[in-house]
Amino acid sequence: MILVTGATGGYGQKAIQYLLENNVPASSISAMVRNPEKAKDLAEKGIDIRVADYMDYTSLVKAFLGVDKLLFVSGSEVQTREAQHRNVVNAAVEAGIPYVVYTSFLRNTPVEESAIAFLQDTHAKTEEWIRESGIPYTILQNALYMDSIPMFAGQDVLSTGQIIQPAGSGKSSAVLREELAEAAARVLTSEGHKNKTYMLSNNESVSYGDIAAAISEVSGKEVTYHSPEPEEFKSSLKEAGVPPEYIGIFTAFSVAQAKGELDVEDDSLEKLIGRKPVTAKEYIAQVYGKNQS
Ligand SMILES: NC(=O)c1ccc[n+]([C@@H]2O[C@H](COP(=O)([O-])OP(=O)(O)OC[C@H]3O[C@@H](n4cnc5c(N)ncnc54)[C@H](OP(=O)(O)O)[C@@H]3O)[C@@H](O)[C@H]2O)c1
Repeated sequence: MILVTGATGGYGQKAIQYLLENNVPASSISAMVRNPEKAKDLAEKGIDIRVADYMDYTSLVKAFLGVDKLLFVSGSEVQTREAQHRNVVNAAVEAGIPYVVYTSFLRNTPVEESAIAFLQDTHAKTEEWIRESGIPYTILQNALYMDSIPMFAGQDVLSTGQIIQPAGSGKSSAVLREELAEAAARVLTSEGHKNKTYMLSNNESVSYGDIAAAISEVSGKEVTYHSPEPEEFKSSLKEAGVPPEYIGIFTAFSVAQAKGELDVEDDSLEKLIGRKPVTAKEYIAQVYGKNQS
């Protein structure tokens, strides 16, 4: 039995879809969810639904019983994530799970020097807990989701004609979320991945300048990129009424990009999915091309 946590989220749903496409029968897949109402479509496919919450240790141990492989999708609640992940690893040990695949984040910088330490810290600790647990594992250090380009570029980029991010000429090797989920399904259905850590990123990295040029090219509307100082950027977001917690996160990601923390060109993903990942330019053509609404 393969159990996928975060099964109602964008990544978890795609991972289950690719497990099915890799010929894993629905009866051999469990979806861990907090709210079974959100999992009706999965139940209709014959997938076993297990209700548990990362905050509730007992529910996790119960959900993990009889599981052969765990796809541990990192939690989305940043404030409580560390305690949640500790619960998941402890519960996996108590339930006797023989193999864990964990979705971490790309890391090429020591956590204490990272502009996104708030995010990397929990991932690094979780990786360590998994290694210390003695459970055979595979760590998937996922790149930034390429799907977030429109959010970082600004939803109204075609009308403003500007991308404003304090990332300088730093690049990101972002990847489509669904290709990362496809890679996880491959790891879970093939051999040779135990006790390995993969950096899952694109073969090509892009800067915001590259993104602006690509949007201009495919949309026919001129888009330019401006990189203010981080403090200036924060002030402009504040003036625009962006909530403080988002201001910090947006700025941190761009500063990390400026420092090269999001730029790891690597072919591990290509090897796992058996083709080159979708490039940022291809994705931009899909989203901003003249034939798109
Ligand atoms: N690489 C990147 O760029 C990137 C970007 C964003 C996120 N991430 C990480 O990757 C993970 C998966 O991404 P995603 O896009 O699928 O995120 P998502 O769509 O927000 O899904 C998060 C999933 O985690 C579940 N979850 C949250 N808190 C939980 C808890 N306390 N107990 C049990 N389940 C809980 C959610 O359940 P509900 O449906 O009940 O809320 C949902 O199924 C995220 O959680 C985050 O750690 C990575």
